[in-house]
Amino acid sequence: MISESSEARRATQVDARPVDARAVDYSRVFTQAIDRLHAEGRYRVFIDILRNKGMFPNARCFAGHNGPKPITVWCSNDYLAMGQHPKVIAAMEEALHDVGAGSGGTRNIGGNTHYHVDLEAELADLHGKEAALLFTSGYVSNEATLATLAKVLPGCIIYSDELNHASMIAGIRNAGCEKRVFRHNDLAHLEELLAADDAGAPKLIAFESVYSMEGDVAPVAAICDLADKYNALTYLDEVHAVGMYGARGGGISERDEVADRLTIIEGTLGKAFGVMGGYIAADRTIVDVIRSYAPGFIFTTSLSPVLVAGVLASVRHLKSSSVERDGQQAAAATLKAMLSDAGLPVMTGETHIVPVMVGDPVKAKKISDILLAEYGVYVQPINYPTVPRGTERLRFTPGPAHSEAMMRELTDALVEIWGRLDLRQAA
Ligand SMILES: Cc1ncc(COP(=O)(O)O)c(C=O)c1O
Repeated sequence: MISESSEARRATQVDARPVDARAVDYSRVFTQAIDRLHAEGRYRVFIDILRNKGMFPNARCFAGHNGPKPITVWCSNDYLAMGQHPKVIAAMEEALHDVGAGSGGTRNIGGNTHYHVDLEAELADLHGKEAALLFTSGYVSNEATLATLAKVLPGCIIYSDELNHASMIAGIRNAGCEKRVFRHNDLAHLEELLAADDAGAPKLIAFESVYSMEGDVAPVAAICDLADKYNALTYLDEVHAVGMYGARGGGISERDEVADRLTIIEGTLGKAFGVMGGYIAADRTIVDVIRSYAPGFIFTTSLSPVLVAGVLASVRHLKSSSVERDGQQAAAATLKAMLSDAGLPVMTGETHIVPVMVGDPVKAKKISDILLAEYGVYVQPINYPTVPRGTERLRFTPGPAHSEAMMRELTDALVEIWGRLDLRQAA
């Protein structure tokens, strides 16, 4: 007679002999995937740093040196150094000691803290919208919102700028709806695509205000005009503009006085606001739809209240202070002028971003390596797929705390390296 326990044991045992001798060599496939990146010169190496609180852009670099080496950070998206601001740090310390480290749950189950509620009200007010909704990052806000919106709107067609960020592309792909890609900032092409589709179909135009790798700005008002003409909704990613533009840091939509014309404004809390997280702001019903249907919002632990407290302090500060914004704009203008005067191929867009074109992944990495090893300058090379192949570049983000002396040292270093590597000068 078979005992109950041996039956139970048999139920949890499997015959583990391979069913087919042509087994996949998983390890080889993974190694080849990495080898391909090395061969193209775009294998990513993360440098290991610690920022020095209160002394940004100074930091310490750990990798490849004997002990920490002092460096200057030139590629942080903490554009205004708000991640080091005394008000932000004090708010985070206070929250940590008041309520502890984590939120303890999803927004629906235990993780809806008073900090989250306050921050959503603050962000809705920043953009003049009825409501806002927090996500764990800007990436998640884009992916979750775009995928959900199009699912709630059967037959929806999304019109997407060709340079939209990977998170928007992922959201549009996951929406599973029809999509049309318009040439970057090309109104005529967008209109051509809108006009070619069924006038009765639901439509959504998804675009960014500041394109962070080019440093250029979308014609937001004109895109709103097209949206009105073709009865389309608008979705604007202001990730590189919130905190940075507009009298209260409401982004390009505030600067251009068009926030009320946009259906949804999306932003990050991890760049100019200096902490972490993402959000959308829109009318109450749309926010309620995303809150109620988006898996990326629903099924995840909410942001730590400590982070949210820091963001609250940052958003409130930047609503009333323009000192950081003005300092940052001045620094960007000075650096662009210095690089351009030195004959370096700087892209002189109208924004705070200072890209220098290299056009080759191996050379971009080489320049970055020399800058770090010989000059203590940290700038990450930007390669495909972040930018199209052949447009690899260095992307400098000077902040209010980068001094003119630092800019001069950087410019001199680049001139020396450009000569050493026999690189292309500005046209
Ligand atoms: C245009 C754009 N949208 C969204 C994101 C994602 O934001 P986050 O870093 O908060 O996930 C980024 C990040 O680099 C971005 O550049």
